[in-house]
This record gives sequence, structure tokens and C-alpha cells, in this order.
Amino acid sequence: MEDSVRVENRHHPQPTFILFSRALTPERLDYALKEKKKNNPVISRNFKIKLYLCGIIAIRTHMTTTYRTTAINNRRYLGNKYRLLPFIQKVVAQNTDNIHIFADLFAGTGAVSSAFTDKQIITNDILYSNFLANYAWFGSEHYDSDKVIELIMTYNAIIVEQENYMSVTFGDTFFSRADCRIIGFIREDIEHKRSSGQINSRESAILITSLLYAMDRIANTCGHYDAFRQGVTFDRHIELSVPQASNDNHPRNACYNEDINVLAPRIEADLVYLDPPYNSRQYCDAYHVLENVARWQKPPVKGVARKMDRSGLKSAYCTTKATEAFRELIRAINARYILLSYNNMSKKGNERSNAKLTDADIMEILSGKGEVQVFCESYKAFTTGKSSISDNAERLFLCTCR
Ligand SMILES: C[S@@+](CC[C@H](N)C(=O)[O-])C[C@H]1O[C@@H](n2cnc3c(N)ncnc32)[C@H](O)[C@@H]1O
Repeated sequence: MEDSVRVENRHHPQPTFILFSRALTPERLDYALKEKKKNNPVISRNFKIKLYLCGIIAIRTHMTTTYRTTAINNRRYLGNKYRLLPFIQKVVAQNTDNIHIFADLFAGTGAVSSAFTDKQIITNDILYSNFLANYAWFGSEHYDSDKVIELIMTYNAIIVEQENYMSVTFGDTFFSRADCRIIGFIREDIEHKRSSGQINSRESAILITSLLYAMDRIANTCGHYDAFRQGVTFDRHIELSVPQASNDNHPRNACYNEDINVLAPRIEADLVYLDPPYNSRQYCDAYHVLENVARWQKPPVKGVARKMDRSGLKSAYCTTKATEAFRELIRAINARYILLSYNNMSKKGNERSNAKLTDADIMEILSGKGEVQVFCESYKAFTTGKSSISDNAERLFLCTCR
């Protein structure tokens, strides 16, 4: 995974403020920022008193005027195809023609779509956290990058002392209680700014994506959010980076957050790329904390890992219903090409990592739709447990539809 770079913030050469608060609320933060704009760079005595009355004590400081940036690949994600992009691009370039609309319907965090930004992109994922990431990276709505940078720098400077949903629910589990207070405050503030019209949907998606990336970077997990390590010292703290999202995306890009089998009949594309889950591991279980923060409905949680109710987020592709769901999906797809990623881990490793679709079923179902070619590339499997499996190959099944 590449590290993000630290760049000078040319937009904010002046000294800025750190805000401390005993009762920091989104409304009070707005007020402080407005006041800050009015009388920069010196905080007047009057201003200090006003902030104090608001429960905010502001101090002028030569705080860092730099911020980190982040790219789409700076996110760990189960089944991420980032390393396979050259292989996928080569197969598409050499075996298809006239691809203008590229639909990535099990998009995850959007790694594959990021290699096809010269085309109109359609993304979809059942997780709302992934929908937001895809909308942040590929949405066609214009966003104000100065506004996003300013908010991220402010968020990186706040200290929050009051408890909130995040700190009460997840304090000292995947994140320290202090980081949870900041995460909860930031998420609430983004919601407040979006509902009061201060930021648009794209700016909101970019800020939430930045928060989710920052959380994932410091999370105390054993790979994913099924469990956290007990008794650790939380030595990494939340710091948001600025997503380098483009304002030149294709104007007809579209992002969806639906079950693929419900969406597919309504989509028309030149090429539909499919990268379903391979095994019984549900993505909503592995990423429940991020999904919880993305949705921000503050639900009750259960168990040691503090999982919310995820019944509406379970995927048929992780169950014994996978073959039937896949058959129905292929029948519904409206495209000239279907490109399927499916590795050959079937019957290897442990029971949970056994593939849900057999090669025979894939071939039989795709052949009913058109002519099928299979392309292979070897890779090292990603496992979080002790089992290590060699001889894996990532396969691409290309169906040229009749
Ligand atoms: C293997 S991952 C995709 C990884 C992605 N290609 C990447 O490179 O990051 C499979 C994705 O499918 C999503 N998914 C699973 N079942 C789904 C369904 N029924 N409808 C839509 N998305 C689904 C999961 O949330 C997960 O993000």
C-alpha cells in the first residue's frame, strides 16, 4: 500500500486556531469558523470572550499548515483488485471493442473503476460505505476542494471532550475513547453541514470517505472488524487526509447502492465487470464499524465486536444461494461483454474460504449467454489467518454476449 504524501497547504499560509471544547457542537464549530474568517489572523479579545461563551476556547497557534492527501488505493479492502489492474486492463484492451460504458457492479471501494475513468462509469455496491467512496471518487457533481481542505484541517485540529455515540459504543475497542469522540463529532458535523446546505452530497461523500480511510488506517483489528486486540496501547491517532478526487469525471457517471440482482435489469452498459465475494465471509460483518459510521443511524450494537443489525446487508453470493443468484444475474444483464473475476480457491484452505460458485457452474451459466474465454494470472493469496495457500490464480472469464 502506498503511503500518502504530505503537501504544503498554499491556501492557508496564516497561523490558524486549535479549538478546544467542553461542549463542542457542530453549530458552535460553524460559529467559531465564521468568526475566525471575520477577524483573521489576530483573534481579538472580544472574539475570545465570544468563543468562551460558546463553550469553545480558541488559541492562536502556528499549527501545521500542511495536510496529507490520499489516493483511492490507500484503502485495505478484502478482495481488492488493485494489483490486478494491469491484467484486467490488458484483457479488456485486447479482447473487446468500443467500450464506452463500464459498469462495475460489485465495485467495493472502486479500485477497478479507477482504471477506466476515460469511460462512462457505473458503480454499485450493497454497502453504503462503498457507495459513498464510489460517489466521492467518481461522482460527476462538482465539489469545492478549498472547502474540503479547510474542513479537513479544522477536523484535524479539534479536541472533543464530550461523549457521543461513537465513544459510548466503540470507546477503547477498535479505537481509543478520545479518537472515538473525535470520529463521532466529525461524522455528526458532516451530517449537520449537509442537511443545512453548507456542503453538497459530493463534498459530504468525500469527507466521510476521508474519515473512513483515516479510521481504517489506525484501527486496532486483526485484519477486519470481527475482533479487536485487547489491552493494546493506542499509539496511532485519527488524522484525515484529503482525497484527491477529480472534478473532471464523466458527466454521466452514476453510483448505486443496491442489491446487484435488483439493479442489473435497469442497467445498460458495453461491459459489465463482476467481482462477487468468493466465500461465506460477509462484507457487512468484516466492515460493520465503517458501515455504521457511514450510515450514521446510531443503531444499538451487540457482542464483543459491537455489531449492528446487518440483516438487510447480507449477500446471497456468500451463501448456498450463490449459484442461483448468479444464474438470475447473468440472465438479467444487458451488455455486449461480461467480465467476471473469480479465483481458484475452491476446495482449498478452510471451509469458510471455499468458493461458492464452482467452475462448472460458472462455465455453464456464462456459456448460456455467449462465447466464453478464460484468462489466468498467478498471485499470492491474501489471508488473515494461519492458513497459507499457494498456486492461486486470479481468473477472468470474458463472455462475449450473443
Ligand atoms: C470482491 S469485493 C469487490 C472488490 C472490488 N472489485 C475492489 O477491487 O475493491 C465484492 C463486493 O461485492 C459487494 N456485494 C456483495 N454482495 C452484493 C450484492 N448482492 N449486491 C451488490 N454488492 C454486493 C460487497 O460489499 C463487496 O464490496
